[in-house]
Formats: sequence, structure tokens, C-alpha cells
Amino acid sequence: MNNESALLAGGMTMLALATSALVVIPYLQLKDIKPTEGVKPYTAAQLRGREVYIANGCIYCHSQQPRDSSFAPDAKRGWGRASVAGDYYYDHPHLLGTMRTGPDLMNIGVRQPSADWHLGHLYQPRAYVSGSIMPSYPFMFDVKDAAEPGDKPLTLPPGYAPPGKVVVPTAAALDLVAYLQSLNRTGAVLPAPDGGAPAK
Ligand code: HEC
Repeated sequence: MNNESALLAGGMTMLALATSALVVIPYLQLKDIKPTEGVKPYTAAQLRGREVYIANGCIYCHSQQPRDSSFAPDAKRGWGRASVAGDYYYDHPHLLGTMRTGPDLMNIGVRQPSADWHLGHLYQPRAYVSGSIMPSYPFMFDVKDAAEPGDKPLTLPPGYAPPGKVVVPTAAALDLVAYLQSLNRTGAVLPAPDGGAPAK
């Protein structure tokens, strides 16, 4: 009996330690974080685009977490400064990613602001980057004989449009590109709430 009480007490202690390390301490560290300068709530279209990003597994190849220069030359690659907690203020769930088969996309809206480029690249990455291993997403586009009123057909590099047809982005493609264009976490890093130095 004595052994059972000791086992229970030990188990409860471990559980309390794990809960404080994984839940309570991170909560206390992050509860006063404010959005980084320039980071705004997503619009309805951008939020729908974020869902398209999640549904199509973009996260399997793209991270959203530029690293400090002591870990990786991300700033030199043009991916932006190391990210801080305030950059993810409106991200539920965050899309940090774990793999970098393709470039980090945390600041792709700054690096590549053109909607036409993004749409064409989603339709056929190899039309823009020869030898790209990114999958194409043709199901995000309608191929039609002629553009209908309100359609905005893609202007693809020569040889990539189906002959005699026009390629029109679906609402999902337009939303996804609105989301990509919104990705901009280049704002100045605010000082920590306790007046300490900003995280690097
Ligand atoms: C199998 C891995 C893979 C998947 C999945 C993938 N990508 Fe990519 N992506 C890449 C690679 C590799 C590149 C670099 C070559 C290129 O630009 O095509 C890239 C490049 C990009 C770029 C240009 C980045 C830059 O710095 O110029 C954007 C934007 C992009 N991908 C968006 C997406 C989106 C949105 C999705 C999901 C719909 C997606 N990718 C899915 C591998 C992937």
C-alpha cells in the first residue's frame, strides 16, 4: 500500500512538472506579446487562402520561420530577419513547418509581390523556374475556350498555355495568392514587455 501511494505521489509530481514546463511557463512568457509592427489581422480572402495553403500541403515543403544568422544564412537568402513570437500573433494555427524543400515563405509577399507571377507559378512552376520540383496545381484553374465576362485569364510564358485555350484562376487560387501576398513580417521587432532587449 505504501508503495502505491509513493507511485501515485511520484506520478502526480511528474505530471505537475510537465504541465508547468509545457503549458504554464510558455503561457506566462507569451501572454503579453503584441503583434509585430505592420502585422495586421487577415482579411476574409486571405483567411480562405490560408485554408487552401493548409489543405494543399504547402507546409510540407515550405517553412514560415526565418532563422537567426547563427543557425542559418536565411537573411542572406533574402528570407528576412529571424522571426519573433509577435509575427505569429494572428496565426491560428501557426504554419512554422519543419521542412524546407522550397524556400521559406514568411516574407514572400515582399520578395514576390506580383499576383500574376504567383498564379502562373502555381499553374506551372517550371514555366518560371526551370527544373523546379514544386508540384503544379492545375486543379486550381479552369481551362476554357474563351474568357467569360469577369474572368482574368493568366498571361503564361510562351508555350505553357494549352493551345487555343485560356487558363482562368478559380476563387481558391485567387484567395491563396491574396494570402501569399499578405506574408510580410519585415516590421521592426518591438522591445520585450518587461523593457528587456528584443529577441534576436
Ligand atoms: C514538393 C515540395 C513543394 C510543395 C508541396 C510546394 N512547393 Fe512551393 N516550392 C518548392 C520548391 C522546390 C520551390 C523553389 C523552385 C520554384 O520556385 O519553383 C518552391 C517555390 C515556391 C514559391 C516561390 C518562392 C520564392 O522565394 O521565389 C512560392 C511562392 C511557393 N513555392 C508557394 C507554394 C504554395 C502556395 C504551395 C502549396 C499550394 C507550394 N509552394 C507547395 C517546393 C514545393
